[in-house]
Amino acid sequence: MVEAHDLRKTYGDFEAVRGIDVEVREGEVFGFLGPNGAGKSTTMRMIATVSPPTGGTLRVLGLDPVTDGSRIRARLGVCPQEDTLDLELSVRENLTVYGRFFGMSRADVRARADELLEFVRLTDKAAAKVDDLSGGMKRRLTIARSLVNRPDLLILDEPTTGLDPQARHTLWDQLYRLKHAGVTQILTTHYMDEAEQLCDRLVVMHDGVISALGSPAELIARYSTREVAELRFGVVDHGEYEHQVAGCAERVEVLPDRLLLYADSGEDAVAAVHARGLAPGQVLVRRSTLEDVFLRLTGRTLVD
Ligand SMILES: Nc1ncnc2c1ncn2[C@@H]1O[C@H](COP(=O)(O)OP(=O)(O)OP(=O)(O)O)[C@@H](O)[C@H]1O
Ligand SMILES: [Mg+2]
Repeated sequence: MVEAHDLRKTYGDFEAVRGIDVEVREGEVFGFLGPNGAGKSTTMRMIATVSPPTGGTLRVLGLDPVTDGSRIRARLGVCPQEDTLDLELSVRENLTVYGRFFGMSRADVRARADELLEFVRLTDKAAAKVDDLSGGMKRRLTIARSLVNRPDLLILDEPTTGLDPQARHTLWDQLYRLKHAGVTQILTTHYMDEAEQLCDRLVVMHDGVISALGSPAELIARYSTREVAELRFGVVDHGEYEHQVAGCAERVEVLPDRLLLYADSGEDAVAAVHARGLAPGQVLVRRSTLEDVFLRLTGRTLVD
């Protein structure tokens, strides 16, 4: 669906995407996980053929974005990071007007709009002005709009940022249904739980480069341990405890407010810490997540 080799994007003398390789397969949900400024949106805009690459090669749906942009866009659905809905129009008109851009007939567009309003649970808001929708409703409408032309490939740039937990779960469910209907999806997120839930495969991206590729489970197995013990010693410099817990776990990470001890058994690591006479104020043992993968790869947390 997408093939990129050494893909680059330069703005002036700043290189936002610094030579990435990506291959997205038909039917999968492929994620870009990374913090602010990683280059995710820049990459999405290149794949969506609205921003030309400044280096490397890119094929989308087997076509060349430079010469076949309009043929590609006809088969793409794009949900940009910022909602770009027409505030003057009603909810329903936002879908029908958009559908007409794709050359769909009035009857087809009307039926499709009804179907999509149902799908994103906005049927009872069909006549409302977009201005009167909540943030989450606007996001759902943007997603509905990206589906008007029945795309083969859906590009979602931070689909759930700013949504409350319930709205996020509703959206995850909708994206899951689309996957089962055979729609290939590329999404960006800085929520590791979202990446874990939705993505078949994902890349970890930061500072314009990709540092790892795999399924969530593969990445966790490759870059982290089974469990993590989080230790908080109160209002102290946690760096000062690093050497005191050395050897209690396979690996130790120091964060401003806690120590992370990576081990197969978090309980064993905690027991080893206690055996040294140390008494952390708070202890939490949990499974490794993509957040731990990210920390290992970049030395940074996803949401600092
Ligand atoms: N049009 C532009 N002109 C100049 N610099 C830009 C432009 N668009 C993006 N950048 C820069 O490129 C880098 C990557 O931006 P991008 O929007 O791709 O990041 P992102 O991963 O989507 O981040 P976020 O999670 O905040 O959305 C940033 O440093 C940004 O300032
Ligand atoms: Mg972005």
